[in-house]
Amino acid sequence: MKKFIALTALTLSAATFAAPRAQWLTVDSQILNKVSPKMNKAMPVLFSAQGASVVQMTPLEVEALSATIHNELHRCGGFMAHDSLEEAQAALASTGDTAFAQKAIFADYSIDQARLVKPMVAAVAERSIRDTIIKLSEFKTRYYKSETGVQSSQYIRDTWAALAKNRSDVKVELVAHKNFPQPSIVMTIQGSDKASEIVILGGHADSISGMFGTGRSPGSDDNASGIATITEVIRVMMSSDFKPRRTIQFMGYAGEEAGLLGSKDIATSYKNRAQQVIGVMQLDMTLRKGTVDKDIVMMSDFTNAAQNEFIGKIIDEYVKVPWGYSKCGYGCSDHASWTANGYPASIPFESTMGDINHNIHTDKDTLENAGGDAMHAAKFARLGVAFMTELAN
Ligand code: BES
Ligand code: ZN
Repeated sequence: MKKFIALTALTLSAATFAAPRAQWLTVDSQILNKVSPKMNKAMPVLFSAQGASVVQMTPLEVEALSATIHNELHRCGGFMAHDSLEEAQAALASTGDTAFAQKAIFADYSIDQARLVKPMVAAVAERSIRDTIIKLSEFKTRYYKSETGVQSSQYIRDTWAALAKNRSDVKVELVAHKNFPQPSIVMTIQGSDKASEIVILGGHADSISGMFGTGRSPGSDDNASGIATITEVIRVMMSSDFKPRRTIQFMGYAGEEAGLLGSKDIATSYKNRAQQVIGVMQLDMTLRKGTVDKDIVMMSDFTNAAQNEFIGKIIDEYVKVPWGYSKCGYGCSDHASWTANGYPASIPFESTMGDINHNIHTDKDTLENAGGDAMHAAKFARLGVAFMTELAN
């Protein structure tokens, strides 16, 4: 994780040095109203939406604005710089999408599918989750630019397709990405009578470790566990011959560790094609129980509040383990790609942020080092089955 933070800092300072003469700022409208009388030059608003305004100024004026915000309001920031008016407007539009994705209510969150859910929850098997984790961890790395990264995606595709071999309403596809070789995996169970509404369960398929990402990366917890948990949800649904009313999609995203690349491509194209996604659950790290009094921890940032509460109720009803909330503090996984595109997403996680598995992104991220069994992951498979069934029917 640290490596990415350092890289971001590098990129930011490079951008500062290369700053063009004119900049377009997106500024919180309330902040702008308070500080503009104190500035010695008028700041005409070029565009405004979602409680923010776009103003054009030189880097020197930006510094003056920053100082004024500090002096007058005793706070930092409240604005972002962009290289063009179009970019600033796009940022405003996506701020709108993000806010909408976190606050809006996208579905009927009633719990009324117990007859279907209970037997499937009971069918979840720790052993089959563990076996998938072992298989995925055997690839030298699932790094998004590597040969074995490509092979591991094909392996996931083959595994999911084998589970669905008796179903003509199910297809499994590889989704290619423009700038790197690893494909994402998408499995679709066509909905029976509300097929245009989509419910998604996803996790990242790639792993990473070492200076340049290319070292031995078993990624057992991060994120063979999430893919294995999803695979178990698929296994249980297929062997129960479950036929959802809404369309269900299972996704294995490529290149998450390099900046949410696969999920960004997919979620952006869903938005551009106006796809109606009513719920997204992300499973990224389900293997290691790190927090004593909470088995399932939902990240409250970059996620949909109403859907998170719904998931809490599902846990109480069907999984019956203690749960709570924590925060990533940044868009830490693929759910953030869906949120950024206006869709409701949640990430039930293995521990609080304070109790994270420090072996991730190293060759020590193994099953043995995360407890040696998939008991913890099985709770997330039960949750996944219940969530997908309740939301899809
Ligand atoms: N599984 C991690 C995210 C994570 C780690 C969440 C620890 C909560 C606790 C994920 O695969 C990851 O490493 N994400 C990157 C961010 C991404 C934008 C490159 C990270 O956290 O550095
Ligand atoms: Zn990671």
